[in-house]
Amino acid sequence: MTRAARAVASPHVICIDDFRPLARRRLPRPVFDYLDGGADGEFTLRENCRVFDDVTFRPRHAVAVGNCDLRTRVLGLDLSFPALLAPVGYSRLMHPDGEAGAARAAGAAGTAYILSTISGHRVEDVKAASSGPVFYQLYLMGGREASEAIIERARVAGCAALVVTIDTPVAGLRERDFRNGMKELMSGNLLEKIPFLPQMIARPRWIVSFLRDGGLSKLPNVVIPGKGPMELVDVSKALASSTVTWEDLKWIRNLWGGPLVIKGVLTAEDARRAVDEGAAAIVVSNHGGRQLDGVAASLRALPEVVAAVNGQIEVLMDGGVRRGSDIVKAICLGARAVLCGRAYAYGLSAAGYAGVVRALEILRADVERTLRLLGCSSVAALDRSYVDVPKTW
Ligand SMILES: Cc1cc2nc3c(=O)[nH]c(=O)nc-3n(C[C@H](O)[C@H](O)[C@H](O)COP(=O)(O)O)c2cc1C
Repeated sequence: MTRAARAVASPHVICIDDFRPLARRRLPRPVFDYLDGGADGEFTLRENCRVFDDVTFRPRHAVAVGNCDLRTRVLGLDLSFPALLAPVGYSRLMHPDGEAGAARAAGAAGTAYILSTISGHRVEDVKAASSGPVFYQLYLMGGREASEAIIERARVAGCAALVVTIDTPVAGLRERDFRNGMKELMSGNLLEKIPFLPQMIARPRWIVSFLRDGGLSKLPNVVIPGKGPMELVDVSKALASSTVTWEDLKWIRNLWGGPLVIKGVLTAEDARRAVDEGAAAIVVSNHGGRQLDGVAASLRALPEVVAAVNGQIEVLMDGGVRRGSDIVKAICLGARAVLCGRAYAYGLSAAGYAGVVRALEILRADVERTLRLLGCSSVAALDRSYVDVPKTW
C-alpha cells in the first residue's frame, strides 16, 4: 500500500466527511475554499446536504438478500454502481494526479468520469488514463471555433457522451474566493498577489507538488485559434460570455452526433425543453450550490423533474451526495444514478488517485450495506416504496 493509500485507509477515513479535514490540511486556503465553498450565503450548498435528512427509509425486514446487484445502466453503458464522477474544474490544482487520476480511479471502480472544460489535463490523456467511460463537459468558452475543435477532439478520443452545463451564464459569486484573492493569485501580477501569498506558503508540501507539476497550467482543452490554450486567469471573463442557449444546443447536437446530457435542470419546464431538444439524459443539479444561491436543493427538485420527464429520457442528479444512503434515496426518488462532486474531490485533494479510489470504495460499500438493510437485492428494484418524504413535497 502506498503512503497516500495508508493515509486514507480505515480507521483514518471511514466516511466521506473524514476526507474534508485532510483536504483542508493539505491544501492552501484559497484552493480548499474554492473546492468547499458555494455562492453568496451558501444556503443552497448547505441545503443540498441537509435535505437528505428529510427523506427517511422504509425497510423490509426479515428478508434474505443474497447477492446484492449494484449495477446500473446509464446511456446504455454498464456501471458497476450508480455513481459517476461529476465534472470538477481545476482538479489539477487540488492534486497533480488531477483529472487523469480521478478518471483512472473511476475506471478502476467500474464507473464513468466526466471531464470538466476547466481541466489541466488533455481530454486524450484523461480518456487514456481510464478503463471506464469518460464524458466531456462543455462550456462554450473561447468562442465557437474553440468549442467545435474540442467537441471533435472529445469524439475522436472516444468520449461516450457530451455533457452541456446550462446553469453558468456567469460564474456565481463565491465570496470565499474573493476574500482569499483567488483572482489576484491567478493574475500573474506579483504586487497584487503579495497580500494573499502567506496562505499559500502555509502549505509547503502542496507548493512543492504544485511546482513539480509545472505550476499553473493553461487549459489544454480550450484552444483559441491563433492564440493557443486559454490562460486560467481568463476563465471568469470567458464564462461570462459563454451562455449556452437552447438554440446553441441544436448545433452542438448536430456537431457531436452522440448522446447529449443537459446538466443544471431544476424545473419541469427546462426538463420538458431538454426532452424536446433531443437530450439523452438530464442532470438535476444546482452546480453544488455554486451558482444561483437560493434555489432548491437538488434532491427536492428531483421529483418534479422526474414527473415531467415521464420516463422519456434518463434523469441523473447531483448535489450534496456524501453517503451511499444518499445515493439510494436519490434512486428511490427516480434518479437513474447520481454524480458525486466534492465527495471524490476531497479525496483527490487529500491523497490524489488513492483518495478517489478510497472515496468510491466507501460509497460503494455504503450502497450495498444500505440495500441489505433495506431488504432490497438490487439497485434496479429500488423505488418510491422504500422511502417516505415530507407531506409538503
Ligand atoms: C470545485 C468544483 C468545481 C466544479 N466545476 C464544474 C465545472 O467545471 N463544470 C460543471 O459543469 N460543474 C462543475 N462543478 C459542479 C459539479 O459538477 C457538481 O454539479 C457538484 O459538485 C455537485 O455537488 P456536490 O459537490 O455536493 O456533489 C464543480 C463543483 C466543484 C465543487
